Amino acid sequence: MSIKVENDKVVKPFLKWAGGKTQLLTKLEKRFPGELINGEIENYYEPFLGGGAVFFFIKSKYKSLKNFYLYDINPELFIAYSVIQKNVDNLIESLGIIKEEYLSSKNRKDYFLEIRSKFNSSLDSINFQEYNNTWIERTSQIIFLNKTCFNGLFRVNKKGHFNVPFGAYKNPAIYDKTALINSSQLLDNVKLFLGDFELINDHIKENSFVYFDPPYKALSSSSNFTSYSRDNFDDHAQIRLANLFKQFAKTKSIKLMLSNSDTKDGYFDSLYNFDQIEIKRILAKRMINSVSNKRGEINELVITNYSQNLFD
Ligand SMILES: C[S@@+](CC[C@H](N)C(=O)[O-])C[C@H]1O[C@@H](n2cnc3c(N)ncnc32)[C@H](O)[C@@H]1O
Repeated sequence: MSIKVENDKVVKPFLKWAGGKTQLLTKLEKRFPGELINGEIENYYEPFLGGGAVFFFIKSKYKSLKNFYLYDINPELFIAYSVIQKNVDNLIESLGIIKEEYLSSKNRKDYFLEIRSKFNSSLDSINFQEYNNTWIERTSQIIFLNKTCFNGLFRVNKKGHFNVPFGAYKNPAIYDKTALINSSQLLDNVKLFLGDFELINDHIKENSFVYFDPPYKALSSSSNFTSYSRDNFDDHAQIRLANLFKQFAKTKSIKLMLSNSDTKDGYFDSLYNFDQIEIKRILAKRMINSVSNKRGEINELVITNYSQNLFD
């Protein structure tokens, strides 16, 4: 699904990412702070960037925003965003080669497995700290794997190896050149950080909007969709996040919005039970059972430190 924004720019998240917010954008936007809608807010922070659906939407639409700070703990995501920001032309070239090889290969599954094994075997030699040209090929590989693997997932095992099987799609759209170029333009002048969400402490300023979309707490022990990286987002991390939210919430000009799952035990109602916090429920289509791949409508939480007046 693509996101249409003003002046008809189409920005398709370049990766399919668990927990992507494309389908919820309209509902979330209605609950954005009035100060963002009115053009008063200057700084935007997203400490759990993922597929970036919310960032791309906000950056294209809200022109009063001047500074953008994006964070994710996943190093593969970090290098992909950095490459799209700095070197989209070479990335498109590299993707063109992969696509050509894939389409002309006698056995597409074998080609997929070959790229997957190259991607995994180069993990130890990649320097994730400093931008370098090896990131370009790696980004083209991850985009290719994400588009051709089963269910379009990104999942790694404990060693950090991508382990999703081949997807056998007839005609997978491996990349969309225009959307990549648009994404690159939107990433211009944006600050990207690899690391834990608490890094935001080093950068937070007044007159800001922060959108938090952490890995969701599992609704039950059998529905755990939070394996984006080797680091689990456990209850300890949820508590660290609630403490940070509470600390920022004291500053009136910092507007906070956080999404999470609506666990039946009211876990987040108690965790975010402090002054001036509003917790609302919105309906979302989600995988409700990882085993049967069943989708259904469930409630998700939207937690803010301002009142959620619904904007049209
Ligand atoms: C639900 S996803 C974000 C979805 C995103 N908003 C979208 O629309 O695609 C959560 C992200 O948090 C990242 N993450 C997990 N633990 C983290 C941590 N401690 N600090 C920062 N990011 C983390 C994961 O790598 C994942 O990309």
